[in-house]
Amino acid sequence: MFSVLALLAGYLIGSLSFAVIVSRVMGLSDPRSYGSGNPGATNVLRSGNKAAAILTLVFDALKGYVPVALVLKYGAPYGMEEGVAALVGLAAFIGHLWPVFFRFQGGKGVATAAGVLLAINPWLGLAVLAVWVAMAVVFRYSSLASLTAAVAAPLLQMLIWGVGPELPAIALMSLLLIWRHAPNIRKLMAGTESKLGQKAAAAK
Ligand code: G3P
Repeated sequence: MFSVLALLAGYLIGSLSFAVIVSRVMGLSDPRSYGSGNPGATNVLRSGNKAAAILTLVFDALKGYVPVALVLKYGAPYGMEEGVAALVGLAAFIGHLWPVFFRFQGGKGVATAAGVLLAINPWLGLAVLAVWVAMAVVFRYSSLASLTAAVAAPLLQMLIWGVGPELPAIALMSLLLIWRHAPNIRKLMAGTESKLGQKAAAAK
């Protein structure tokens, strides 16, 4: 029962689409109306407003981090261990992809997944972030960095920490994240993907 409530709470928190919320509060265009149309930090950056992009990144990551961290800290007496904590993170991630408050039209989940991983295992989270940063610095494509990091996450978990109760949630997050990047994969292969920091024409 407590696990079901925690999963529901995770999904509802994940449904807060901070790209849209931050943009509205700061008087910027809706990120779903320009660039890739994705409500995420990368696309908010295409508006040219770095502060809005950073705030989106931080809040989208926190909504993955906080529910998992709370379950890990306070969940044990209610029968919630690591496996349930990771599933609560997956629920927040799913909320970001299909947010109940935004007609189920959400983002690709990169920042939220990073928050979930950092809460599950800070070293795994930092290693996956390092993969993202290295790929972004070398190739300048946010999507390619995200795709590589998504492949790395379950592999690093298995190779370094073994098959634990958190692995199914991590693997499912990676699969969903890669699937949500299908348009980016097509653009990368066609050579039309925009590089990090490139502005979108229609954004305010
Ligand atoms: O954060 C999502 C990123 O990997 C790709 O975003 O806007 O280029 O589709 P975008």
